[in-house]
Amino acid sequence: MPAELPLPLVVLIVLPLATLALWALVEPHCLEITRYHLGPSGHWTGAPQRQPRPLPPDSRCSFHSFPAPLDAPERPGLRLVFFTDYHAGLMLAGRDRLLRVMLDARPDVVVFGGDLINGKWDRRRGFQDLAWFGAALYEAGIPFLSIRGNHDKGIDRSAWEDCGLVHLRNERYCLEAGGERWILVGLDDQRLGTPDFAAALEGHAADPARTLVFAHNPDSVLDLKPGCQAQVFCGHFHGGQIRAPFRFEFRHLRSELLSQAGYYGGLYDWLDFRLFISRGTGCVLFPLRFLARPEISIFDIQADSGGSRSHPR
Ligand SMILES: [Fe+2]
Repeated sequence: MPAELPLPLVVLIVLPLATLALWALVEPHCLEITRYHLGPSGHWTGAPQRQPRPLPPDSRCSFHSFPAPLDAPERPGLRLVFFTDYHAGLMLAGRDRLLRVMLDARPDVVVFGGDLINGKWDRRRGFQDLAWFGAALYEAGIPFLSIRGNHDKGIDRSAWEDCGLVHLRNERYCLEAGGERWILVGLDDQRLGTPDFAAALEGHAADPARTLVFAHNPDSVLDLKPGCQAQVFCGHFHGGQIRAPFRFEFRHLRSELLSQAGYYGGLYDWLDFRLFISRGTGCVLFPLRFLARPEISIFDIQADSGGSRSHPR
């Protein structure tokens, strides 16, 4: 018969564990909106405004006929909303809240960074939600782009595009914002395909200061060359999802070189461009997060300038 533990010791052990478990259950619901201003001033630009977004006469660019917005404010640069790792069946951050952020920011473009689903079991819900986002953004006149992630296996291009968005697999999309032409390159996922930056830009004049790259897996930056892009946007790591001491999950549970090197969430300098790694919005395996809140991000980006993070919240 084992000796009984004294009550204070039991409380001392159980209480912290119960608190941590409760925290991990609640955190997937706690959406964080992060804002970045990548421009010369280093400051948030103030009240959101809407901007016209006619597509340039470039027949090699992906084209999607979005309706024109009703107002046409003056705003420098490009406003982007980026979200990733939706994992529909385990997405607890609230799709209403996500859409509210997208619409309230009044961006020039919204990009989804891949991992719509966990697997076949939540595929239907994933595409229902994506079509719901697509319809609302289309009605608001906001272009909506996507790339695929490693969980998006066996999904045809048509399934994505039926949701009212432009799906990029080593392709580019061009739009005008702030009086400038921007090139948005969507790379294929490196587990499901082969990222190919050159193929995406084939036949197009390079404009690195206005070229933004979207890739699901941050390790894709290892194949990118300097002098070709201003900013790269990724997801995949979920910020660790359930953080462990000493970055254990990144050092020992993941094979990606960037996570092992300490690049797992936030904005970084990489070669001569910036690298952003989002924590994503949903969960994989378990509906739990710990010290890695779900995230949707708003960027104001100006070309030909250095940048800094400001006013995250
Ligand atoms: Fe993911």
